[in-house]
Amino acid sequence: MALTSELGKQIKLKEVEGTLLQPATVDNWSQIQSFEAKPDDLLICTYPKAGTTWIQEIVDMIEQNGDVEKCQRAIIQHRHPFIEWARPPQPSARNAKDCMVSYYHFQRMNHMLPDPGTWEEYFETFIDGKVVWGSWFDHVKGWWEMKDRHQILFLFYEDIKRDPKHEIRKVMQFMGKNVDETVLDKIVQETSFEKMKENPMTNRSTVSKSIMDQSISSFMRKGTVGDWKNHFTVAQNERFDEIYRKKMEGTAINFCMEL
Ligand code: A3P
Repeated sequence: MALTSELGKQIKLKEVEGTLLQPATVDNWSQIQSFEAKPDDLLICTYPKAGTTWIQEIVDMIEQNGDVEKCQRAIIQHRHPFIEWARPPQPSARNAKDCMVSYYHFQRMNHMLPDPGTWEEYFETFIDGKVVWGSWFDHVKGWWEMKDRHQILFLFYEDIKRDPKHEIRKVMQFMGKNVDETVLDKIVQETSFEKMKENPMTNRSTVSKSIMDQSISSFMRKGTVGDWKNHFTVAQNERFDEIYRKKMEGTAINFCMEL
């Protein structure tokens, strides 16, 4: 059934183990829970809007161009690390403020998600973790604490943005794959924001307007670090920093907030 934007706004999220999820995800939860990963599956664990599509494209291109005998399956999940069902995982994090902004615009254009309301309303919703896949703080803190105990490559959106070649090399090494320098340059180019925005395989232009209305906001929206400055008021920023300090206390993770 095609959803109109009005129906989309009525979507009610459901809670599983304290985390809000889309009704369709909850309906399939037992299947998701019982999914068995193979030992060499690559698990991409991003918080929504942290650059999932970007990492997936990088991994796919390495897979297609790498010198390998066997293929590795890449699986994407947005969950907290409360259940380890595959490894090695590859979490990727993006600073909370830009994630909030990106998620806000995504909820505006995605009719399978609730209407985010005003920016002021969404600010509270996000801080409270009342968004699909739960709290940014729990997700990032959880994976950060896991990273030294398992075979985990922890990547930052901001690092890939600043030095894509360096970060893509890290992913290659983690996957145990090699590509020569010209191919690496090609991967850097093809996974740039500009290229991915034009690519129908990554820009979601094939998704029906009744699900994602890109006239409201593009799926490949800005792809920058620091767009939060165009959204946060001074008061919101101060309040957020205070909440961040409390929630992330004891975590030595450092985010770049602007490039
Ligand atoms: P913005 O909304 O800030 O533009 P996800 O894939 O997890 O849904 O994340 C989407 C965010 O990643 C969007 O952020 C999108 O523009 C950004 N993104 C996707 N591909 C990118 C790329 N190649 N370079 C930089 N940002 C990218």
